[in-house]
Amino acid sequence: MWCVAMRNESLVKLIGLIAVAGAIRLWATSLPGCDVVMGQSAGSGLSWESSILCGAIVTEESEIHRIAGLSLVPGPLNSEIQTFLSSMGGLKALRTNPKLWDIYLRLYDGITPFSPQYQELIRFADANLPQTGKIADLGGGTGPFSAWLLLRGRNRHVYTVDMSPAGLALAHEKLERVAGFLGEPAAVYGTHELNLLNLRGIELSDLSGAVMNNVLYNLPFDAQLEVMKKLRAMMRSGAPLIVADPNGDVVTRELLQQAAKNIAIGAIKNGAMPSDFDIALGIYINIEILRGGIPPFRGAVELEELFRAAGFTVKKRFVNSFYFGLLTVLVLEA
Ligand SMILES: C[S@@+](CC[C@H](N)C(=O)[O-])C[C@H]1O[C@@H](n2cnc3c(N)ncnc32)[C@H](O)[C@@H]1O
Repeated sequence: MWCVAMRNESLVKLIGLIAVAGAIRLWATSLPGCDVVMGQSAGSGLSWESSILCGAIVTEESEIHRIAGLSLVPGPLNSEIQTFLSSMGGLKALRTNPKLWDIYLRLYDGITPFSPQYQELIRFADANLPQTGKIADLGGGTGPFSAWLLLRGRNRHVYTVDMSPAGLALAHEKLERVAGFLGEPAAVYGTHELNLLNLRGIELSDLSGAVMNNVLYNLPFDAQLEVMKKLRAMMRSGAPLIVADPNGDVVTRELLQQAAKNIAIGAIKNGAMPSDFDIALGIYINIEILRGGIPPFRGAVELEELFRAAGFTVKKRFVNSFYFGLLTVLVLEA
């Protein structure tokens, strides 16, 4: 934010750049293994009338275990969360209701981008995407992938595509911040509010690369092939597509719970400051969506078959080696 306001004033701009460089150095020194943190470190501000939570910032691992336990088993906190989600149509509405994604993404942004395991995925995508040309971050949410891809490749034209306006607003902030940091010549980037089921758009044609992290499973199973065929047609021949999706062969409730808690634990160690509401709701949504509402997930072989049927070639596959062993990660070629 600060960078954009300063764009036209060279002195102020210089001060801005120093401030940004200082901020990044501060993060880099205080967050081992993390070069840049792209989420919002403070809590999301989400809350409801609660007899258990008070909006306190969570800083202790033991507190994450305690809140996760109370969220996931029948009891007062579990009921509070269900009532809160019911007022928005319930979790099943996640596929169709961007409002639920808006809420989820606000708290997600204060936790997940801080997790070292998530940052590993971002670095993997960066290393496997070209340095120039149009790159789409499909279902890019709050834009950590987009922001990192722009920061690491200033000649990339980076577009975040999502159906959540709140997610895209946060993505836009991140991209603006990176563009301000990069200075002149102005970086090229954009955000597009779009349901992937209606994938289209002149800006999104002729793609030199794309990434889709934890998005495919949200699309109705039967629609996935057609959407991926459309995507293939929007990509240049030979352009890479990086896909990460939960591996249906291994996902269990226990693994999901462990992973959701470990993401939050890694994040707070890395400087995230979620509230107790963020932890409760984030863990509940992750487990309940992934556990039974929105999947079935494709197994690793099935995922590859889908992309082959859509016209992609599988160049690299990583099964159960990212994100606590939960994901299949593919590098595909259009
Ligand atoms: C688990 S989040 C992942 C976000 C982002 N890729 C990341 O790794 O941080 C899933 C994202 O997919 C988006 N999404 C789900 N279904 C979608 C659809 N049909 N069209 C566009 N975006 C969708 C959601 O809004 C959300 O931002």
